[in-house]
Amino acid sequence: MDIKIIKNPAPSQKPDEESLGFGLTYTDHMFIMDFNKTQGWHDARIVPFGPLALHPAAVVLHYGAEVFEGLKAYRGADGTVRMFRPVDNIRRMNASAERLCLPLLDEKDAMQALEEFVRLEQDFVPHKDGTSLYIRPFMIATEPNLGLHGINEASFIIIASPSGSYYKEGIAPVSIMIETEDVRAVKGGTGYAKCGGNYAASTRAGERAEKLGFSQVLWLDGVERRYIEEVGSMNVMFKISGRIVTPDLIGTVLPGITRRSIIELLRDENYEVEERRISVDEIIEALENGELEEAFGCGTAAVVSPIGKLVFNGREYVINNNEIGSLTGHLYETLTGIQWGRLEDKKGWTYRV
Ligand code: PLP
Ligand code: COI
Repeated sequence: MDIKIIKNPAPSQKPDEESLGFGLTYTDHMFIMDFNKTQGWHDARIVPFGPLALHPAAVVLHYGAEVFEGLKAYRGADGTVRMFRPVDNIRRMNASAERLCLPLLDEKDAMQALEEFVRLEQDFVPHKDGTSLYIRPFMIATEPNLGLHGINEASFIIIASPSGSYYKEGIAPVSIMIETEDVRAVKGGTGYAKCGGNYAASTRAGERAEKLGFSQVLWLDGVERRYIEEVGSMNVMFKISGRIVTPDLIGTVLPGITRRSIIELLRDENYEVEERRISVDEIIEALENGELEEAFGCGTAAVVSPIGKLVFNGREYVINNNEIGSLTGHLYETLTGIQWGRLEDKKGWTYRV
């Protein structure tokens, strides 16, 4: 694929690495390519970062036809820039696109786009410990059409944001509220897809939880409201009597790349990992009888985040004295060790740019 590059004539100052936050500043360029039914994907280009021009009747603005991904580029101690399992993100984006009837990407072309874009923006990959360049590929339906029909025109865009930790707590334990009113997903819906609509519909519960002092909500299943699903921006795992349990992927939960990596790391270390339905009653019982040893969320933005407090129906349960558990800490160190190149990548998960 030929990618045309138009350099930004006014490069910006790099942001202060001490106060990056998450997703607040952007690099100087963005990748764009367009799709229509006659030409397929075409006009791949990297252009100066800036606003997009969209027809006011563009399908994405009315019917939410959008999917996205999130991955990171890390600067190793040796200065090398690496992405983590980027092909998995492209594959998941195609699975999401298929669900929303958006056009699929050619895996090789999408990887080339990611690589050329990150190479051009590599000076934006921050150096400070715990920081990275958060990469956000996304796809939108662009054709003007207020009728509800199939999608004929789309754009695939990549932007990136030098970022620090997702939660203000950093790697410190977060407090999570188990949501009992709103639901996020049902079987047959879009739970497994990474589409903007899932997050839009989650905002109300998230805001209510934040007002009460919680970082995010833990979703229950949409039918019985009884089984644990995932947290707003991360999959969730519990250590109960030495075993790790995590909800299985039945179409309602995002198949996290961090989740998959952690399960593999745990099994390599001979931990028993159970992917299955977990009722909230089981978790509460394990909390009450002291069998719930650790709980954590995992995701690209969230990395490995210890859960220090869980609230259910107004009752607060403290996990592991609201401290980082030893397994949680170990997983954080192992995963970030591979990502930042401090540990040998025996799995071939990192992709040098
Ligand atoms: N679940 C949700 C709802 C998410 O938004 C994310 C973040 O991408 C995850 C789980 C974790 O997925 P991954 O590890 O691929 O980032
Ligand atoms: C990610 O971890 O990449 C996500 O997309 C979560 C997002 C809500 C920040």
